[in-house]
Amino acid sequence: MKNIQLDITKATQFLQADAIAAYEPKVKAAQEALENGTCPGNDFLGWLHLPSSITEAELTDIENTANILRSKCEVVVAIGIGGSYLGARSAIELLRSPYYNALGKDGPAIYFAGCNLSGSYLDEILALCEGKRVSLNVISKSGTTTEPALAFRVLRGMMERRYGKEAAGRIYCTTDRARGTLKSLADREGWQTFVIPDDVGGRYSVLTAVGLLPMAVAGIDIDAVLHGAEKAMTELDNDDFSHNPCYRYAAIRNILLRRGKAIEIYASYEPRFTQMGEWLKQLYGESEGKDGKGLFPASVAFTTDLHSMGQFIQDGSRNLFETVIDFISPAADLTVEEDPENLDGLNFLSGMAMRQINRRAMQGTILAHTRGGVPNLVLEVPAINEEEYGYMVYFFMLACGVSGYLLGVNPFDQPGVEAYKKNMFALLGKPGYEDLRQELLEKLGE
Ligand code: PA5
Repeated sequence: MKNIQLDITKATQFLQADAIAAYEPKVKAAQEALENGTCPGNDFLGWLHLPSSITEAELTDIENTANILRSKCEVVVAIGIGGSYLGARSAIELLRSPYYNALGKDGPAIYFAGCNLSGSYLDEILALCEGKRVSLNVISKSGTTTEPALAFRVLRGMMERRYGKEAAGRIYCTTDRARGTLKSLADREGWQTFVIPDDVGGRYSVLTAVGLLPMAVAGIDIDAVLHGAEKAMTELDNDDFSHNPCYRYAAIRNILLRRGKAIEIYASYEPRFTQMGEWLKQLYGESEGKDGKGLFPASVAFTTDLHSMGQFIQDGSRNLFETVIDFISPAADLTVEEDPENLDGLNFLSGMAMRQINRRAMQGTILAHTRGGVPNLVLEVPAINEEEYGYMVYFFMLACGVSGYLLGVNPFDQPGVEAYKKNMFALLGKPGYEDLRQELLEKLGE
């Protein structure tokens, strides 16, 4: 079976005949623009060839460091936000378990900090580090993002109080080659550093040390992840539009948008996928939502969310479509036992594997939602493993680049993120923001 197959049979009734074929020239132009670097954002295309351009030396460095962390730590805190956070977290939950820490697998517990500004959250992270052998992996491409910088200040303080000068040997930085406060600090303090290439933006950086180091610490085979990504890079880079699931997916979501389906809901029936839903939301939301354009990406974990969002999807505003990620084989399974008394009335399921039940729920839901006016695209993925994960992330990044160009935006910048930062800095009294502070305080009536 192929790594990813796109089934559009539950969406075709919502598409005009020949609509997809009509997109072929546009997709080809977008694909060429990416390959030739002739479109906006062309200084951020390093991810396109990352699976093959990452060097053996870099990989060895990441693997060796991960092995050291696995042997000397009980807790590793990965500090980062956005693209410097979601890739690693989603990989660990998908490939190990959402309960990776609680299950006490064969590596250190991995906690994520710097992904919000909540004092109680950070306080809990400190509590989790109490009495444990700890290391930090601080991840920030710019090296200046407030959330991770602040969390790092707090956690570094804890490390220095606990380990004194030896704290330096327990701090690992993943950041820019030369720029940013974090890089300057690392050079001064002698922390080991990993480089995020200049031409790879945050949300496209999961296949750099940003994602690979925490993954390797969790015992994920990163060679296999990169192998999967390289396979996607080789297979998906072709002109055969009618058989290219990645380019077809990019085209169809743009067609659906033009037909009023402005919200794309990523749906999976595996709870392990939940954080990948978050990764996808960032990838597509930050890449496409600009210049007054874009699909709004949402995500649901089924069947859980059928009991919360299911009503809306079935019956609410008809501006939605779903992209279902269908894992053909789950990571593990069990079979329902026969109960002689059958008091719960569930003996009709006896002898069935949970995967069969889950699949029937998925099939029934897709048919119901389609009938309710919600197109369903189904991406079939044969299994949950490293290779499939690597293939999947490359697939989605490539589809996002092409889709962004089809939409007519630069999928590699995020100018809109600055607005909240400016206001926050002004309200917090950061030097240089005095005029704006005055204006905002008046608006707040202070
Ligand atoms: O995709 C992006 O560029 C952003 O989401 C960043 O990843 C996020 O803002 C974190 O930035 P940094 O890694 O510079 O701290």
